[in-house]
Amino acid sequence: MNNFLIDNISNHGNNSIKVLSTIHHSWRQRSIVGKEPPDYLKYDINKPDFIEELLPFSDHYVFKELNDLNKSRVLSCGWLIYNQKTVCIESDIVTPSCNDILNNKIPGLSSPIIHKLVCETLVDEAFHILLVKNANLICQYKRDLKNITLGDFSLKNNLQHEQQNYQQEWQKILIQLATSIVSEIFVSDYLDQLSSNNEIQPFNKATVSAHRSDELAHSKIFTEITKQMVIKLDDIQKEFLVKMLAQSVLWFANKDFDLWNRVLVQLNIKNNRVLINDCRANNEIGLDKIDCSDLIELCKNVGLFDKDSSKQIFSDLNIKIQ
Ligand SMILES: [Fe+2]
Ligand SMILES: [Fe+2]
Repeated sequence: MNNFLIDNISNHGNNSIKVLSTIHHSWRQRSIVGKEPPDYLKYDINKPDFIEELLPFSDHYVFKELNDLNKSRVLSCGWLIYNQKTVCIESDIVTPSCNDILNNKIPGLSSPIIHKLVCETLVDEAFHILLVKNANLICQYKRDLKNITLGDFSLKNNLQHEQQNYQQEWQKILIQLATSIVSEIFVSDYLDQLSSNNEIQPFNKATVSAHRSDELAHSKIFTEITKQMVIKLDDIQKEFLVKMLAQSVLWFANKDFDLWNRVLVQLNIKNNRVLINDCRANNEIGLDKIDCSDLIELCKNVGLFDKDSSKQIFSDLNIKIQ
């Protein structure tokens, strides 16, 4: 494809534009789009689909006392939920923000190089949906879980609820974008927990590894476009963005006990209500499992933490900024 225009822009752009240009130039080589998908023949029914430590109730006695079959079915549902959360992030969180950028609704993001990268990101994310949907269909077929329904994730519900609380379009767009920035920075770690695990079966590990390689690039893209956007925001918009970034961290870290409750009922797990209620009371938001350092670094780099009141917004939500 002719990159004359892009080459000329990237040679004369600021540092962010140069970083974005490098990511753009490596897209065809890096992206998993069009590459050989993980081999489903590697699906090993004797290996667990998921790791216990990632279940939000793995230490609870009700889970520990389950027989092997029920434990295996709960772990398989953990894998289905994990993948479906990915679909939620791709389709309900990131894609609408990409569309906002392409429609020139976000200040500072109208550069051709940014629009090309956003188009590539949309292609990546559509392929990731195909990848994880395929993984879930195979799992549901192999484990006889075809009729399990999951429902919506709290991440999407919280985002939409927050948008309804504000009237102006720029506020709704920034809420969406803040959630996308947080999701795209956190999703690599979210995927890393499985892509580096040798206990789960090879097909699942290969699926997550393939996705993660793209998300490492997406994390950089959203970091750089945040830098480009923030310099165009006024003080009120900056403070609003900080507030929404902090809120999004909590939404991302939510353990989705309502969704799990629905799933455990469908699996006929005994004492499911005790399990969910105990764990929810203990801790509904898993901040301890989230590494916020890259997000905090970004906020510092772009001046979002210049005011103590902005740092306080994070601290008030128990998000450590050191
Ligand atoms: Fe993705
Ligand atoms: Fe992504």
